[in-house]
Amino acid sequence: MNISSKTAKKRKCPSKPLIDILANYQIDSQIIDYGCGYGADVKYLQEKGMSVVGYDPNFFPTKPTVLGMTILNTYVLNVIDTKQNRIKIIKDMVRYCAIDGHIFISTRTKTEINSLGRINYWTQKNGGFLTKRGTFQIGLDTNDIINLFSESNLINDVTIVHKKNGPKYTILVVKRKK
Ligand SMILES: C[S@@+](CC[C@H](N)C(=O)[O-])C[C@H]1O[C@@H](n2cnc3c(N)ncnc32)[C@H](O)[C@@H]1O
Repeated sequence: MNISSKTAKKRKCPSKPLIDILANYQIDSQIIDYGCGYGADVKYLQEKGMSVVGYDPNFFPTKPTVLGMTILNTYVLNVIDTKQNRIKIIKDMVRYCAIDGHIFISTRTKTEINSLGRINYWTQKNGGFLTKRGTFQIGLDTNDIINLFSESNLINDVTIVHKKNGPKYTILVVKRKK
């Protein structure tokens, strides 16, 4: 199991980004929660009657066998310790999105992570931090995620639909056009 598995929380309730997404956007089935951790968001959406599959290399390692009209990627990119691996995730995730489907990428913000890094004396690493538990955290704002799409050579395959930069988390919504 990879060290990033330690960043997953056993939650009984949905994540804040998911609550935000459900309140502000229409999300269509089939849904894929890419990097679903223990699967609390998957369970929540299933209980609402939606068709959802979860993928997580550490907890649900079977890759989806369907394409999603909605791909959720919540608090994943900010725990990945190299830009190269963040780009790999973007490339892989886009493959699972149907044409005209939407990808919702939520990350913890720079403000939030830099502040936690200072308060907790985390060690600086690769533009982010190594935490005391040995996990990695980097704050990413929507423009950082857009840059990852550019560096993945996928920026022309998607349309940026919405950017939300909150104090603690950020949500980038893109639509796959080809
Ligand atoms: C902070 S947790 C978030 C889990 C879940 N999305 C949530 O919000 O509760 C980060 C997750 O990213 C997963 N992860 C690590 N590398 C990944 C990869 N290459 N592709 C997809 N998920 C990955 C980890 O296993 C971990 O469960």
